Amino acid sequence: MKRLPGWLEKAVFYQIYPQSFYDSNGDGIGDLPGIILKLDYLRSMGFNALWLNPCFASPFLDAGYDISDYTQIAPRYGTNEDAKKLFREAKKRGIRVCLDLVPGHTSLEHPWFRQSAVPQRNRYTDRYVWADGSSEIQEPGLNLIRGLAERSVGYAANYYYSQPSLNYGFAKPNPQKPWQQPVDHPGPRATAKEMLRVMAYWMGMGASGFRVDMAGSLVKGDEGSRETIRLWSRLSAQLKRRFPEAFLVSEWSDPSRAIRAGFDADFLLHFGPHAGAYLSLFRAGEKSFFHRSGKGSLGLFLKTFQRLTREAGPRGYVCVPSGNHDFARISYGLSREELKTSFAFLLTLPGIPFLYYGDEIGMAYQENLPSKEGGYERTGSRTPMQWDGGKNRGFSRADPRKLYLPVDRRSSAPDVASQEQNPDSLLRTVRALVLLRQRHPALQAKGTFKVLSQGPHQPLVYAREKDGEKILAVIQPSGKRARVKPRLAGRPVPLLSNGVEWTGKGFSAPGVSFGLFKLA
Ligand code: NOJ
Repeated sequence: MKRLPGWLEKAVFYQIYPQSFYDSNGDGIGDLPGIILKLDYLRSMGFNALWLNPCFASPFLDAGYDISDYTQIAPRYGTNEDAKKLFREAKKRGIRVCLDLVPGHTSLEHPWFRQSAVPQRNRYTDRYVWADGSSEIQEPGLNLIRGLAERSVGYAANYYYSQPSLNYGFAKPNPQKPWQQPVDHPGPRATAKEMLRVMAYWMGMGASGFRVDMAGSLVKGDEGSRETIRLWSRLSAQLKRRFPEAFLVSEWSDPSRAIRAGFDADFLLHFGPHAGAYLSLFRAGEKSFFHRSGKGSLGLFLKTFQRLTREAGPRGYVCVPSGNHDFARISYGLSREELKTSFAFLLTLPGIPFLYYGDEIGMAYQENLPSKEGGYERTGSRTPMQWDGGKNRGFSRADPRKLYLPVDRRSSAPDVASQEQNPDSLLRTVRALVLLRQRHPALQAKGTFKVLSQGPHQPLVYAREKDGEKILAVIQPSGKRARVKPRLAGRPVPLLSNGVEWTGKGFSAPGVSFGLFKLA
């Protein structure tokens, strides 16, 4: 039976988009030494694990998700020595660092692709999916890009045209199309072996695991993901044989498949079969469950989350992130107080919390920014971290025209320094929640989760329990004051409250409030 890395139980992840976190050398773009300089801040917040978006050599046509060398840090972020130092310095502070593995595609500039694109057969001919000899404009299920290479009429793009699909074979190769190789053909086998080598390289240097990009996209024509699941089961077992504490979390948004495939965790995200459940929390405007209108409902989310968590059992975790670099920030359409109730929820769920950088201060989604590095509408969620009220909000000493993206210049824009001063700030609330989670096993990944009460305009009440410890969360997302009296086996003692009180007869919750209570 697979064993999950023990450190995940207490893990609270912070996602860093390296471009925009902290620029240490004044060139206008964030870098690894900049992250090192901010480790003490991250530790003070209680974050004990990081996920860094891709920081490898790349032409950056998709912000680094188009890699040209998997084992080289992009010069704009620093050197491999800086990465080593980051792992070391983070570890000293009890923080683990996970990288982004992009196994589905490379950039057009990767030497493998360059070699693969020539007509003469060579070591890399089978490294990518090429529709050799096909006279079709498109092949079903593939996005063929024609006209770019001498070799053949087209290669399959995995995302943008600049991201050719690595070849892991076809689940049901069509015998009329010999370019569709079976999964156990030497071409696909060699690709998988390379990816394992990439993972071992970074693990050996001190990384703690990987967030895996488009994990479900590897084997082509794989309806039901059977072959992709088999492939990942093999890769994850091989990785864990060498590095038993390695963490693998997939971008699949389908935990039933991902956890069967050997991932320790999978995200619920804004796409895939559970998009509706995820988006109903914070990203459905007035209909969001955490909007004070009270017009939202938690029904779909709860049903989905509880089923997936039950299904995963002891084999994996379901992660509900605050957001990421691919869609509008959690703050979009929510007030500061609504964000507090949202975080009270996210940070007391079972599984592993993931916070996107800047969400802890309520950074805004910047609308209508010109697209940067293939970001398009995603660009507005990728702007520089706001550290203080100084030049470039403390992100960089560069000329503002040289910044990777413009900083939020509005006088109302939040920043870390001023929120540190304000006991009532979002940052201070998030910190208190994270630190509380880390002190109480009941609140951590494996504690049980049982909803005791919920309904329109009513506080949501749930119990988390582990090893005899029982904690109640009372969360009132609606703007209306309400009372609730769940059946309790014990006396509630407040641990952290943002308005909710135990009156002796029940909980009294003002509009948009939360409270966490230990049952004595
Ligand atoms: C998902 C990543 O999160 C996204 O940013 C990227 O553009 C695509 N995968 C392609 O790698």
